[in-house]
Amino acid sequence: MSTPMEITLQNPQEPNISDLENGDAASAPPPPPILNEDKVLVSVEVCLKPSSTARIDDVRSSVERMLENRSLSYNDGPIPVPLDDPFLTENVQRIRICDSDEWVQNHEVLLFWQVKPVVHVFQLSEEGPCEDLSEEGQLSSFNEWMLPAKEFDGMWESLIYESGLKQRLLRYAASALLFTEKGVDPFLVSWNRIILLHGPPGTGKTSLCKALAQKLSIRFSSRYPQSQLVEVNAHSLFSKWFSESGKLVAKLFQKIQEMVEEENNLVFVLIDEVESLAAARKAALSGSEPSDSIRVVNALLTQMDKLKSSPNVIILTTSNITAAIDIAFVDRADIKAYVGPPTLQARYEILRSCLLELMRKAILSSFQECDQLILPNYATMKEKLNMPETQEVQAPFRLCKQLLEAAGACEGLSGRSLRKLPFLAHAALSNPYHCDPGKFLCTMIDTARRELSELHE
Ligand SMILES: Nc1ncnc2c1ncn2[C@@H]1O[C@H](COP(=O)(O)OP(=O)(O)OP(=O)(O)O)[C@@H](O)[C@H]1O
Ligand SMILES: [Mg+2]
Repeated sequence: MSTPMEITLQNPQEPNISDLENGDAASAPPPPPILNEDKVLVSVEVCLKPSSTARIDDVRSSVERMLENRSLSYNDGPIPVPLDDPFLTENVQRIRICDSDEWVQNHEVLLFWQVKPVVHVFQLSEEGPCEDLSEEGQLSSFNEWMLPAKEFDGMWESLIYESGLKQRLLRYAASALLFTEKGVDPFLVSWNRIILLHGPPGTGKTSLCKALAQKLSIRFSSRYPQSQLVEVNAHSLFSKWFSESGKLVAKLFQKIQEMVEEENNLVFVLIDEVESLAAARKAALSGSEPSDSIRVVNALLTQMDKLKSSPNVIILTTSNITAAIDIAFVDRADIKAYVGPPTLQARYEILRSCLLELMRKAILSSFQECDQLILPNYATMKEKLNMPETQEVQAPFRLCKQLLEAAGACEGLSGRSLRKLPFLAHAALSNPYHCDPGKFLCTMIDTARRELSELHE
């Protein structure tokens, strides 16, 4: 599972927090030997400052050199930009190690000689969404972003799932792009680039699609220097004001086709709540909807099929229901991933990230020591729980036990409700200007119970 990050830099001369937390790398049992060719690929993302005009290749080589010269242990999280390197300090906003945690969980530590870092350099687009300004008074039929976009920065990391869902999606997309790139014969091996995420409301499906597009735009920037995300507004396509929806779909896809024709462009098309398409078709067939709807759905499916032949497009779709979606649509999606409500571990991590943010922003009083140590991640907290009882009297330990209790009390709440909970709890405090995390957690547990009871009414 990807979790918000621990500090990751381990310099042999300067033991740091991850040393304290995970045990010193030097004293850890030696990991199994890994042959050179079996090095683990670990992504290192380098975000340029908005003001930077440096060449991507120069920054990449510079970061690669920096990584070669350091004895790092790799686990997910930020690496400080080296102050002794004026070129990097001038141009780089942050450096982050990504996706090592899957490997790290099994093998405890990932040392520099076991790793082949793959450096991805990017600059965030600050343009914001560009709306389709269709005729007056009408809903726009799509939004468009240049990727990677500032709005989606940090979204991937903030989404917390167990069972490697995010990794699976990333790998799936990478394989799909590779197959297309290599020109694998679709008559011999069949695959497509349509992803369907389905599950209950508020589980992060739409966010995950956007975050995935952002991630892929960063990871594939050497092959595709430009990426765009087009979010199709399915509801607007079916708005009763559109008497000519079929034409609108054609117009929309013509625009997408133009983007796709530029072969250095990677294009993501997000069709949210895709069941509305299927529902419209069904209703049209039963005669309760204007027959225009059926033309729109058919137009959309035809256009999607056309797009499938372009190598540089990925279609992302979401739905709250799967069973009822038009079979013609479900069949088109290659990867259908269920996105469920957060498990205990995910709930703990979500609430933990909220608490750490409130401490960072001084809304909750912080501790003298590092807050990350006081509120450890789920795995470390579990280890602590198994430690001798003498440890338990410590206040910090009480806090993470309380956090676990809160995560337990939130069973049944969606990820969306969980992210709102700290706000509701804060509003319920008797003295909102001075609050210690322990007291806050008690209020949060009460708030969660109230929210849940309202849900079941
Ligand atoms: N597993 C999760 N981890 C972290 N945050 C989550 C998670 N699930 C949901 N959220 C939070 O909930 C918010 C809402 O998510 P989003 O709108 O993407 O959900 P959705 O599944 O598309 O919902 P709907 O089905 O109602 O459209 C997100 O901004 C995110 O902060
Ligand atoms: Mg959604």
